[in-house]
Formats: sequence, structure tokens, C-alpha cells
Amino acid sequence: MTTAVPGIEQRRILSTEIPGPRSKELHDRRVHSVSAGLTVGLPAYIERAEGSILVDVDGNHLIDLGAGIAVMSVGHTVPEVTEAVARQAMHFTHTCFMVTPYEQYVEVCETLNSITPGDYEKRSALFNSGAEAVENAVKIARLATGRQAVVVVDHAYHGRTNLTMALTAKNMPYKDRFGPFAPEVYRVATSYPFRDGLDGAEAAARTIAQIETTVGRHNVAALLIEPIQGEGGFIVPARGFLAALSAWCTDAGTLFIADEIQTGFCRTGEWFATEHEGFVPDLVTTAKGIAAGLPLAGVTGPAAIMDAVHEGGLGGTYGGNPVAAAAALAAIEVMRRDDLAGRARTIGAIARTRLDALALETPSIGEVRGRGAMIGIEFVEPGTTVPHAAAVKQVIAACAAQGVLVISCGTFGNVIRLLPPLSISEALLDDGLSVLESAIRDLQA
Ligand SMILES: Cc1ncc(COP(=O)(O)O)c(C=O)c1O
Repeated sequence: MTTAVPGIEQRRILSTEIPGPRSKELHDRRVHSVSAGLTVGLPAYIERAEGSILVDVDGNHLIDLGAGIAVMSVGHTVPEVTEAVARQAMHFTHTCFMVTPYEQYVEVCETLNSITPGDYEKRSALFNSGAEAVENAVKIARLATGRQAVVVVDHAYHGRTNLTMALTAKNMPYKDRFGPFAPEVYRVATSYPFRDGLDGAEAAARTIAQIETTVGRHNVAALLIEPIQGEGGFIVPARGFLAALSAWCTDAGTLFIADEIQTGFCRTGEWFATEHEGFVPDLVTTAKGIAAGLPLAGVTGPAAIMDAVHEGGLGGTYGGNPVAAAAALAAIEVMRRDDLAGRARTIGAIARTRLDALALETPSIGEVRGRGAMIGIEFVEPGTTVPHAAAVKQVIAACAAQGVLVISCGTFGNVIRLLPPLSISEALLDDGLSVLESAIRDLQA
């Protein structure tokens, strides 16, 4: 197991109230310099980070249970990654892969081709952000199938660019007044067992019927879906839902694009979340956990599909930047060496045991769900399924005051999501969970 560089104690330390005075000063500068269009979760300004601890400018040590939204899966400033980044930065930082190529880009593609689901010849292309990867997956699917329609589901989140806003479901804050949106995007029902009560076969039948009647199977270039919905509320579809949709796609000549941007890279206890579902998607989009915080994203798929694109049809100035690629290669090696997929399963087992027990005595917890170290707690008005977003706000604020960073999600803003670094120690996890549990218990008080 990788240990953090000595220097930052791996324990929660409260030096001031949170945010402290120095953070407040910085926040005042921010308000006068940064667009108000960017949200702020916890205005504690970070100075250093190691392992699973963020140290703010006031000296508070915060336990990071969000990992920068599922990005820092290997932990912060892991020596192997930091050294790879520094080494690469000293060699060269940019050429543009399309102008003069370099080995690191090729090696990331080789790695993606070998670790993504599917035992066949694959190709990958690299980009800068998740949204860009999704945009490119759609481009590739349209070109490869000669069709235009893209089907997405309720509660989906795929990014904030024009096409990905159209693909994303939730209006506020992502889409409101930012239209018009890209055409040929069709939204159908998903599987949300807590709210629809359907099993996988029933939910898939409903979704397929909607596609057939409202879009027409021969028009659909791609069905794009997150294997576990992230921003939408950590929604785990009923068993069999995704596999049934995949079978339908194969039959219809439609490509199944698994958006593994949040679920990928060991987060759910496997390299990729579709591996839990017993089918192989056609295209996979990756980002977030791939490169320990450096901007990198990818699209991976069968050689025949990926190579159907004409030369020059894919690319971008920075995509697959050498420093980000070096970070990815080092991070993936750490995931392999330290069996972070196994760690994700252990984290999941520990957290679920405690949170499932808490749910039994907490009427405002509607459901605890997830896979591996991707765990959601959905809050409801006690005794109902009415979303209870105020509870989430209260719990997150109480955790922050105690030095534990947790984040929310959900179409209704009523889900707390836990995404700790997969390298988190059991002692820190235990402390973070204890703070969270007591904040949830206080809801009743
Ligand atoms: C499933 C999924 N797809 C796409 C994106 C967009 O990624 P990015 O913010 O890197 O553009 C996200 C980001 O949260 C995501 O969770």
C-alpha cells in the first residue's frame, strides 16, 4: 500500500473554525475575481494534500471523502505519480500528439485497451475532460453507424458542453437558460429501483419500448448510459437492466456507450463498473480517476469502430498531454500494485455495514446503495419517498464543521455520496464515518 509522503499527519485536526480566517480572506478575493457562475462546496482553501487528508490555509486537516469528485482514487500526492509528473515536466510538456507524437500517449492507449472490458482488438483516443470524451464517443458512434439519434436516460449526467448539456438530464444548474441544445438527443426512462420498484427486465422492457416507439431502432446511433448514475444520485440500476439494453443494442445495430467517467478505475471494486453486469459495452468513456487529478480522458472501443474515423477527424491541441499521460501511467500502476479494486470492495463493505445499520434506525434515510467505494445515501421526508434535500445540506455542513468533506448529488439534491480515495486508511475511514453518522443522528435531534 502506498503511504503518503511524511509531513502531513493522516488524521483530522481542527485548528480553527472551518472555514478559518485565511480561507475567508481568500474567499473574499474570489468573490471579487471569479465568476459567480462557479459553485463552492466548502470554502476552505487548500494548501497541501497527501493521502486522504486535505490541509487548508488555516492548518485544518480535513478528511477527504469526495476525492475531488472521484478523481483522486490513488490518494493525494502519491510519490509515484508526483515523481512521474515532475520527471515528465522536466523532459517536455507539450508537442501536440497530432504534430509530433510521443510514447506516453501510445502507452496510455495500450493500457486502456487492455484493462477496459472486452477481449478483442481495441483502439483508444485521448482528450482533456469527461465531456470531451463523451462528445467524441458520440461523433465516433454516428460516423460508425451512419445514424444520428443518441438515446440517454433520466437522471443522466454527461457534462456541460453544448452536446453534453443536451445529454445531461437535470435543468438546474447545468442547463437553465443555456440553450438551444444540440438536436437528435432522446431521453427515456432509466432503472431507479428505490423509486420505480421495477426489476431489471421490467425496467429494460419499458425503456426499450420507449426507444422503439419514440425514436425507432433503425435511427439510433448510440445508447449512452452511466453504469451507476453519478451526479443523478448514485443510482444503481436493477440487476439485468443494463445487460438487456446491451442485448437490444446489439440486435438493433446500435452502439452501447458506457460512460465510466465516474465509475471507472477501480471505484466500484472492478476496473470498470460494467464488469459487474455481465456484458461488454461497445465504447467506453473514461476520465476522472485515470490520471490522479491531471486532465485526461479517453474513448476506447473495437478497432473496427474506432478506425472507421477518417484521419484528422479526432484530436485537439492538448488531448493526451504528456504530463497527464505520465500521471495516468503511474496512477494505473499504483492501482494495480496496491489492488485498489480490492480496497474499494473493502471500503464498501466497511461503510455499508455501518450505514445500513444506521439506516434501520433513521427514518430520513430512504436508501443506502452503491458498489465498492461509490456509496450513496438518499434522504427522504421520514416515512415517505419525498426527497429531503435540506437534510443533506444540514449533514454536509455538520461534517464540514468537524473537518470531514462529503459531497452531495442527485436530481433532487437529496443524496450524500461517498467517494473516498481508495487508498484511505481504515482509521481515517472509521473517523470520517463516525463524524458522518453523528451528523445524521443529529437530524433526528
Ligand atoms: C458520468 C460522467 N460523465 C461525464 C462527466 C463530465 O466530465 P468532466 O467534468 O471532466 O467534463 C462527468 C463529471 O462529473 C461524469 O460524472
